[in-house]
Amino acid sequence: MPLNLGDVVPDFSCDSSVGQIHYYDHVGDENWSILCSHPSDFTPACSTELGTLAKLLPQFERRNCKVLALSCDSAESHRKWIKDIDASGYCGKTSSTVSYPILADEERALAVKFGMLDPEEKDEKGQPLTCRAVFIVDDHKKLRATILYPATTGRNFYEILRVVDSLQLTDEYPVATPANWERGEKVCVTPSTPDEVAQVVLGDFSVVKVPSGKKYLRLSKDPGYKTPKVLKRGMVETILGTEYGAKLLPTLGRMVVAFALGFSSSSFASSKKKEKPVHTTTQTSGWKKR
Ligand code: BEZ
Repeated sequence: MPLNLGDVVPDFSCDSSVGQIHYYDHVGDENWSILCSHPSDFTPACSTELGTLAKLLPQFERRNCKVLALSCDSAESHRKWIKDIDASGYCGKTSSTVSYPILADEERALAVKFGMLDPEEKDEKGQPLTCRAVFIVDDHKKLRATILYPATTGRNFYEILRVVDSLQLTDEYPVATPANWERGEKVCVTPSTPDEVAQVVLGDFSVVKVPSGKKYLRLSKDPGYKTPKVLKRGMVETILGTEYGAKLLPTLGRMVVAFALGFSSSSFASSKKKEKPVHTTTQTSGWKKR
């Protein structure tokens, strides 16, 4: 039976690059998890993906999300492959490495259980390889999202972080996140939420006028967004270590050059990017869907 959204994912035990993993114990009761399958060890796109996941591991940890990868080769093979991935440059800073487990699903038992096999891709023995599947599982072990890619398309892990953000936000508030939404951007009020309730829970919202006259496209600010007011010591390093920091680097570079040339910070107003949001994690609004 394929796993459907909302199903509790089965527990399993499996050897891995870091030893035997008992899935439920490994993830714990409070964490989310992502499980990413890979066609095979020592393959190019997979290597870039696992390196990138290592680089982004702090981003997943900030979202209380454990990372697990899976490939149908032995744990010994995974450990040798990790040395290549570490050396590939895709892990980012030298301190980053593939420290999360790569499950060794040699018999393809998990691949079958989770419906990860790609009938189009076979190994040299003619056995089907795993596709690039992503399973996003919440802190109740419920499957919340899946994404399937073919072997020839490497995944975008910023998108997976974005989906985790959306799921965690929409669990807390009666909102849906619009197309291409990123943290801090406007969100949609869910259709089942009356105006009066939206006003209390989300504050002011706007209604987009449409030809039908129906008032279903209501937009409010991101209720999980908290603007950092002061950059304290250490925060710059933290920000630069995030995916947003990488995007901010060109702006910071311009600031350094301009200060060296004696301009005031106001000369940057036009080139400043919108401040990236930080979600509060402690808020509880009573709107939890689960
Ligand atoms: C890759 O990781 O690049 C790959 C793996 C299996 C089939 C095709 C590509």
